[in-house]
Amino acid sequence: MAKIVNSWNDFDPLKHVIVGRADNSVIPNEEPATSEKVPVDSEMRGMWGPRPLETVEKANAQLDNLAKVLEDHGVKVDRPTPLQWNQPVITPDFRTDSMMTCMPPRDVLLTIGSEIIAAPMSFRCRYWEYLAYWPLLSKYFDEDPEFLWSQAPRPRLTDKSYKHNYYDEKVSLEERLERTANKDFVTTEEEIMFDAADVLRLGKDLFVQHGLTTNRKAMEWMKRKYPDLRVHAVNFPGDPYPIHIDATFVPLRPGLIINNPHRRLPEEQRKIFEANDWEIVDAAMPAHETPPPLCYSSVWLSMNCLVLDHKNVIVEASEHNQLEQMDKLGMNPIPVPFRDAYAFGGALHCATADVYREGGCEDYFPNQVEDPTLV
Ligand code: GLY
Repeated sequence: MAKIVNSWNDFDPLKHVIVGRADNSVIPNEEPATSEKVPVDSEMRGMWGPRPLETVEKANAQLDNLAKVLEDHGVKVDRPTPLQWNQPVITPDFRTDSMMTCMPPRDVLLTIGSEIIAAPMSFRCRYWEYLAYWPLLSKYFDEDPEFLWSQAPRPRLTDKSYKHNYYDEKVSLEERLERTANKDFVTTEEEIMFDAADVLRLGKDLFVQHGLTTNRKAMEWMKRKYPDLRVHAVNFPGDPYPIHIDATFVPLRPGLIINNPHRRLPEEQRKIFEANDWEIVDAAMPAHETPPPLCYSSVWLSMNCLVLDHKNVIVEASEHNQLEQMDKLGMNPIPVPFRDAYAFGGALHCATADVYREGGCEDYFPNQVEDPTLV
């Protein structure tokens, strides 16, 4: 029997990956988690229902093309099995009228070594999303005797898990920024909640974004679950809607990270990187002034790239500034068109989840200076 699952970071040679699908995608209606996370000036506000078929087809064409590019680079690609996402989610604790999509596997699947964990996400509409990946994980389980198939504690997502009217429409951008800088988020500490895309894996160290989709209790859970790893809580005060770390803080190879210049890692949280000679450079400015229509994310999807190994990186084809910066940083950028898929759950990193990267659990931060981020 073969070893199928292994990945400790986002830059070792990628050999096997899951690429999402846009079929049946739905814009979910408002719920306590989502209403606070959709910018007030976003056209997404008040919109819900199945996404237009034409946009689904265009997104799928770009997802299929990404899969082909990866295969051409020797990467094995698996695809999820979409559900009918327009079905309601009903539990003993809540009801919401639809699910969402399986375009972004990165949000729900967290690969750490030979384990894949389904994340306890805070959106009620995403409660069953992991089911789209179950056929694949079941296959890995049958074929890889070392694969550890896990599920984080399932949250109940009752009203206690959210602060209500937390962002009222009248809150100014400055007030939002003040709240996020003070780590005052819509999600409470009632129960463990995190999205896998808030976790940056760097071998023995996990850097976890504390924000709208991940709470401190989740980090405490990770710390207990992985006694051999170090869990760090990081936050990025310039982001009024801090959701997912991968349009904010993106490693390209050992020792090098690009950081969103509007969301810089605070000075005191940089110590661990500085003490271990990691360079944090400002990411290039996005090429676009607005995201595509009906997109949850910001223009900073420009930096949401997919690193294939310490040299090659897939970057969205129209992001000319980011492509140029990759070149300057000594990477080999591979342009792939992907903007038609953005609205379904993000860019290239979001649309994929690691199954296998060659390499082990390295200690990139042996100099453990006094570190305020340690959980
Ligand atoms: N956090 C995702 C974005 O910046 O769009």
